[in-house]
Amino acid sequence: MTDFNYGSIKQGLDRDELLSRMQDNLSDFRYGHCLRVEKVSRALAAEYDGDVNRAGLAGLLHDYAKERDDQEFIDTIKKHDLDPDLLNYNNAIWHGIVGAEIIKDELGIYDEDVLNAIRRHTVGSTHMTQDDKCVFVADFIEPNRDFPGIDEARKYAEKSLDAAVEFELKHSVQHLVDKNRTIYPATFVSYNYWIAKGDL
Ligand SMILES: [Fe+2]
Ligand SMILES: [Fe+2]
Repeated sequence: MTDFNYGSIKQGLDRDELLSRMQDNLSDFRYGHCLRVEKVSRALAAEYDGDVNRAGLAGLLHDYAKERDDQEFIDTIKKHDLDPDLLNYNNAIWHGIVGAEIIKDELGIYDEDVLNAIRRHTVGSTHMTQDDKCVFVADFIEPNRDFPGIDEARKYAEKSLDAAVEFELKHSVQHLVDKNRTIYPATFVSYNYWIAKGDL
């Protein structure tokens, strides 16, 4: 049994129980992705002075809500009085920001550092903790990822966590523009903040 000490985040939290809840809610493809993100996120946290268990737990659960129906997200936005502007977006934005509320409701995880890393994994933030960055980057570079730019992304992650975040935001904004997709305002705010740091 893997002894990741998630009980230090919430007493009695049993990873095997979480894994079975994830399997109930996710395709095999996404479940495997979450396990890989957990592993990479833990490794990044160890390397870059993050909290290995918080970064790992957030990595594990970051896409927990990704396969829910749109209606469930809409209901959750209303139930938790989240920003009504969220209603103008879609799963790509909801599964992180709104997904954190679903994780609270269903899994009873209330650790705000873990929840923020999950919220921010889709859009970044101007206030990213080391753990937020670890999950954000791990999601982008886990071993099964394969897209133009992945080698560069992995290289940045070896050199500097901040540079990897910056590269990822730039890549994501570019991708959305290329696909004629709308961009959630917080993504632009994150992009502007990070690109101005000039780590690339
Ligand atoms: Fe995601
Ligand atoms: Fe993901």
